[in-house]
Amino acid sequence: MSSDSAASSKHAHIATGVGANTPADTVVHAVDDIEEYDNRLPNWWLITFYGAIIFGVGYFFHYQMLGGEGSVAAYEREMQPVWAAEAARARASGSVTPAMLTTLSRDANIVAQGRTAFTTNCVACHAANGGGGIGPNLTDNSWIHGGAADVIYRTVSNGVLNKGMPAWGAQLGADRVQAITAFLLTIRNTNVAGGRAAQGTPES
Ligand code: HEC
Repeated sequence: MSSDSAASSKHAHIATGVGANTPADTVVHAVDDIEEYDNRLPNWWLITFYGAIIFGVGYFFHYQMLGGEGSVAAYEREMQPVWAAEAARARASGSVTPAMLTTLSRDANIVAQGRTAFTTNCVACHAANGGGGIGPNLTDNSWIHGGAADVIYRTVSNGVLNKGMPAWGAQLGADRVQAITAFLLTIRNTNVAGGRAAQGTPES
């Protein structure tokens, strides 16, 4: 057997086509009869490889550096009209229930109204972040008068006059107290830093 035919039979099992070896290719490693060739990578592979790198750089700058909208924010933006419609329906139903107030707390506009009313009327005693001062911390899970949504609504509406918590229902109106309650539901259990120590009974 000539050395030529030995070489061709050695490579006979390798498929032809892009990247197929010819006897002229260089073997860069050979271990246990397994040979690694230094072939040129196929174009389709190089395109996906460099394409992924270029995409990754663009992705990084768009989302990490330039504040591109993430999937959670996009979902919330798309759902906002749905949540607003649900909140309007819940309000129209007329009864203030935990489910109704929870529905309001999903509507970003109502929560924003509540935050504004909170900033105007409540921060003197409950602090700007709700962490408490003269009044209790509204961001922990402990409540003196109960942490259920409808109970919070009633406490804000009626106040706790003998303990220095004013009644807000008559002054602000039911809609605004509902909006404040919706806002309070979004800061409940967030335990802001530097908040006043818990008072009352822990609730989940
Ligand atoms: C003049 C001070 C003051 C202002 C202003 C005030 N609060 Fe209070 N608030 C208190 C005090 C004091 C308590 C605790 C009452 C008690 O010990 O029973 C309290 C209690 C509460 C509670 C019950 C907390 C619990 O643990 O059960 C809620 C809810 C609340 N306030 C919400 C509000 C909201 C909303 C506003 C604004 C619309 C507001 N407060 C404005 C002083 C105030």
